[in-house]
Amino acid sequence: MEISVIAGDITKMKADAIIVSLFEGVERPDGATGEVDKALEGAIIRLIAGGEMKGKDGEVTLIHTLGKMDADRVVVVGLGKQEKFNLERVRAATAEALRSLRRAGVGLVGTIAHGAGALDHGDVAQAICEGATLGLYTFKKHTTKEPEFKEMKELLIVEGDEGRLPQMESGLLRGKAIAEATCLARDMANEPANYMTPTDMAEAAGKVADEGSLELRIIEREEMEELGMGALLGVAQGSRQPPKLITISYKGDPSSQNTLGFVGKGVTFDSGGISIKPSEGMGDMKGDMAGGAAVIAAMRAIAELGPRINVTALVPATENLPDGAALKPADVLRAMNGKTIEIISTDAEGRLILADAICYARKLGLSPIVDVATLTGACQVALGNICTGAFGNNQEIIDRAIKAGEAAGERIWQMPMYEEYKEQNKSDTADIKNTGGRYGGAITAAQFLAEFVEDTPWVHLDIAGTSRTDKDKAYQVKGETGVGVRTLVNLALSLAQEQIKG
Ligand code: BES
Ligand code: MN
Ligand code: ZN
Repeated sequence: MEISVIAGDITKMKADAIIVSLFEGVERPDGATGEVDKALEGAIIRLIAGGEMKGKDGEVTLIHTLGKMDADRVVVVGLGKQEKFNLERVRAATAEALRSLRRAGVGLVGTIAHGAGALDHGDVAQAICEGATLGLYTFKKHTTKEPEFKEMKELLIVEGDEGRLPQMESGLLRGKAIAEATCLARDMANEPANYMTPTDMAEAAGKVADEGSLELRIIEREEMEELGMGALLGVAQGSRQPPKLITISYKGDPSSQNTLGFVGKGVTFDSGGISIKPSEGMGDMKGDMAGGAAVIAAMRAIAELGPRINVTALVPATENLPDGAALKPADVLRAMNGKTIEIISTDAEGRLILADAICYARKLGLSPIVDVATLTGACQVALGNICTGAFGNNQEIIDRAIKAGEAAGERIWQMPMYEEYKEQNKSDTADIKNTGGRYGGAITAAQFLAEFVEDTPWVHLDIAGTSRTDKDKAYQVKGETGVGVRTLVNLALSLAQEQIKG
């Protein structure tokens, strides 16, 4: 779908539908909604008075204009309570309105910049673009039947004040880069594991690198052996698919020696290995590379937006499968930094591959390091599907990541990292063991990673609960969410801003 901003009067627009909005509790809307009501001879006010329209969150009312206006349909979308209004509501309302219109098979849609009185016009344009792009997302690559609905062609954001267009256009560009990257991450993670092997992931990263003129380097098994990446190799040894350590670099600030590091878990299928998972729900583990997809996709948006900062993304990519060569419980592995690891469960594979990727990130001098991983079921148990868990060794970078997520509509909650949790990872036969028992499992996993991060400023985002959703909701679509992309992009943009300010 094409999205653009134009100057004009939405009540005069020729379109298949126009979208206006209503705050909860408003009985006589003013502004564009009021004008549309007049054109419709009071239809909106009557619907409100009759109690059919309340302006609540998620409420969508479709009115046919029957020749009273140039547009064929008007959608009035609820924005909820005025005092709770924010950009996240703009994203959600846009998605809800467009999804209801998609069913009607419309092609050209106009919308006002909802609530731009209270919010920055550029931010609202960005949020509308994100809500539209993310809310209309579908993954139908593998179905051969005709799609249920035809693609919506064009969305125009109509603004009365021409002077605001430049600001809104730059918001739109930001929204487009970020939302399309999120869709790329969704596509990669929704792909079945036979279409998204480590080699396929490396190829997808290569495409991102080509399009964005980024530097790409794929570290193959042989080089992993030379580098001593025994933990990553240990996980990969039960699979017929060769592992890849994908590295992509963006150089936005050649004058600086600093490079922000992203690390994303890229387990393209997690069967659990010899510590095999129950078969029910195992298919969801095709999405165990969602963190890797998020960092690759974030690099595409960063390349597009061109902030003044250097960023390198690393993705250790492998399958976790059981075969005669597979890793076994009680095996001992040696990570790149020389630390030895006793395997308790081969299903705790994410922390193993991340350990070597983090060692490599440190070797490259990346700092701070942000890792994104579908790491633990325990994180999902702790926080549900509402927010991502944050863990780290540096409050400043943790706070920045949380703030970057907040602005994007990706909620992140910090978890404790008390030293005492390390006790649970102690091994009798090696330096550390790869599981810390049932209690505090998300934290002991993070503490495991901390052993490899050492003193580099670091934040770990556990997206096990947030990477997938089982129903359409606001601008989320059933399946993989692409979580992390928007946080990472915002974080890179905000760190770049900081450096300019000095
Ligand atoms: N990929 C899983 C974690 C996961 C669970 C992600 C549910 C998304 C949804 C991870 O590799 C795993 O299996 N973790 C184990 C660790 C345990 C063996 C210590 C878990 O959480 O059960
Ligand atoms: Mn696992
Ligand atoms: Zn896993």
